[in-house]
Amino acid sequence: MTFLPALLTNVIHHQDARAINDVINQKIVSTTITSPPYFDMKDYGSENQIGYGQSYSEYLKDLKKVFLAIYNITKDNGTLWIIIDSFKKNGRVIPLPFDLERELTSIGWMLQDIIIWKKDRTVPWSSKGRTQRKFEYILFFSKTNNYNYYAKRVTTIDTDQLKKWWITYPERYSPTGKSIDGIWEFPIPTQGSWGNKFIRHFCPLSSALVERIIKLSTNENDIVLDPFSGSGTVPAQAAYMNRQYIGFELNNSYISMFEKYLSSTLSKQQKRYKNSTALKQNIQSFYNTIIQLRVLKYIKSILKYLKKQGKSPTIAVAEINGRSTLQHKHTKASYMICAPSYEHEAIQSIIDQIVNKPPLSKFGIEPHIILVSELLDKMKTYCGYTLQNTHQSAGYYTTASVPDGICILSSIYVNIDITQYE
Ligand SMILES: C[S@@+](CC[C@H](N)C(=O)[O-])C[C@H]1O[C@@H](n2cnc3c(N)ncnc32)[C@H](O)[C@@H]1O
Repeated sequence: MTFLPALLTNVIHHQDARAINDVINQKIVSTTITSPPYFDMKDYGSENQIGYGQSYSEYLKDLKKVFLAIYNITKDNGTLWIIIDSFKKNGRVIPLPFDLERELTSIGWMLQDIIIWKKDRTVPWSSKGRTQRKFEYILFFSKTNNYNYYAKRVTTIDTDQLKKWWITYPERYSPTGKSIDGIWEFPIPTQGSWGNKFIRHFCPLSSALVERIIKLSTNENDIVLDPFSGSGTVPAQAAYMNRQYIGFELNNSYISMFEKYLSSTLSKQQKRYKNSTALKQNIQSFYNTIIQLRVLKYIKSILKYLKKQGKSPTIAVAEINGRSTLQHKHTKASYMICAPSYEHEAIQSIIDQIVNKPPLSKFGIEPHIILVSELLDKMKTYCGYTLQNTHQSAGYYTTASVPDGICILSSIYVNIDITQYE
């Protein structure tokens, strides 16, 4: 356990980021998230600032110095996220992200990923041979190969965006949600990130973007650092998510604005963060729904195939039978297929041919299929499904009262109105 001076964390230090190691000299930081000052384009209003008025090589040298100091105080499983862009000077593009990557690699930082932050607006200039910039790079580094990265926390289950695809093809949609891809779309905050009452800062980060990185790379109480805090998007988001923060910033007016803003928003935003655990329950119920859809569609696919082969089982009963322990399988399911006994052998041989091949082998189901000539339990009530639709139950039936068209009976109840997702 590391004991830290009380005034070290949960403050933005009014200090030069090049001197971070004068303030911190222990390996305590879990992640650093930062957008460095632009090169010679913006005056952030303080003496000695990095970028403004410097040559490109002085600028790179100073950034290297800062990221070396951060390397020294980062835990071995820690990470570094830099939001940065290239720019055009004297008629040519200066590939700053790539130049900086070289400097950081020489220190020991290991580049793990390059992500594109797609934003809706940006600095308002374009020029001959250069499109208007609507994205920046996010360079993601780790200190060692064994770094914290909690990918499952940021999978998306935005079913609205996926339209009805996940309902009709549940076997193609991961029940734990969709992994995030390499293009992150977050709008940038309007000018003056904290609204007009607070600070007008040139280039605030998106707090939703910062939230995603904090979830991906830290746990509660971990320390999040931003050496160029600006309006304080990173420290504020860290505080909302019960992490500790450390910031550095040369412009004192940004720091005092941040402090006022944080104290007026902290309790509300911490509550919002707490409530977001409710989303975890949504994820569990989404998982269950996908599994149910898969179990029903699995037998539907078999029955359709048998029909194509000229076989006509009357009805099938489908049930979920608990989690599967097999690799790549999510659930066990039992199926009882009712057909005349003289057809059992032929049906069994058709089933044996198809269950171990795609698409059925891709459903993540460990099936237990039996053939019967009669359904014995006449009084049990089931939900009924047709061969056209296994996402919306057609009603409740007992085995003694199944109308024409109902081919699948199950205790599984799903009733998804597909038009809501179109
Ligand atoms: C691109 S802005 C950061 C914006 C910030 N991510 C936000 O969301 O508001 C860069 C900041 O670095 C600060 N800065 C420049 N040189 C610095 C130095 N040597 N030490 C600490 N901060 C510095 C500038 O004052 C500016 O606020």
